[in-house]
Amino acid sequence: MFIAFEGGDGVGKSTQLALLAEQLRARGDDVVVTREPGDSRIGPQVRALVLDGDDLDPRAEALLFAADRADHVASVVRPALRRGAVVLVDRYVDSSVAYQGVGRGLGVDEVATISEFATAGLQPDLTVLLDIDEPTRRARVERQGHADRIEREPGELHEQVRRAFLARAAAAPERYLVVDAGRAEDVVAAEIAAAVDKVRS
Ligand SMILES: Nc1ncnc2c1ncn2[C@@H]1O[C@H](COP(=O)(O)OP(=O)(O)OP(=O)(O)O)[C@@H](O)[C@H]1O
Ligand SMILES: [Mg+2]
Repeated sequence: MFIAFEGGDGVGKSTQLALLAEQLRARGDDVVVTREPGDSRIGPQVRALVLDGDDLDPRAEALLFAADRADHVASVVRPALRRGAVVLVDRYVDSSVAYQGVGRGLGVDEVATISEFATAGLQPDLTVLLDIDEPTRRARVERQGHADRIEREPGELHEQVRRAFLARAAAAPERYLVVDAGRAEDVVAAEIAAAVDKVRS
């Protein structure tokens, strides 16, 4: 089973992914936790280029994310799925569509096409979209005390990104769980666990 966690910066993706991994491991599942960009063989260099590079052309940024994704899917995700593991990925295609396609104006269809090429069509069985209003999201990021290049973007970008994620979910509701991530961690986690059980059965 392949599960993606999506949503804006600071919505709680990593927190919820870790909680689900812990729960599945306690039941004896082989769980692989991985993230984009970064966990492919070329990922660390790509991540450094994208997150720290100033004035990177948006098309170059989108293609770097896609290159990382292609390597990540081929070298990490598919081998794990083949051996029967549950793969939990922190960001996937929807993040590219939201940030590059909408946020940077490259076009939803264009970025989705690049991602489709990169993944050779591999889709998650379930995408957990953590949704939260912009002031709450920003407060969480600021509490963490650091913001990388993308997180320093103005609130308007984040609102556009949020709407783009929600539109992706609305277009294929059977493959998504949209969670109100403004609630307590354990409440959110319980809702995610129930949805995962449903997909499995
Ligand atoms: N349900 C919650 N209620 C309150 N605070 C939360 C909740 N979930 C996570 N947080 C806090 O919000 C911050 C961001 O959480 P987390 O790192 O899991 O988000 P993220 O989506 O992975 O962010 P990023 O996109 O930056 O990786 C952390 O300080 C975390 O402890
Ligand atoms: Mg995170």
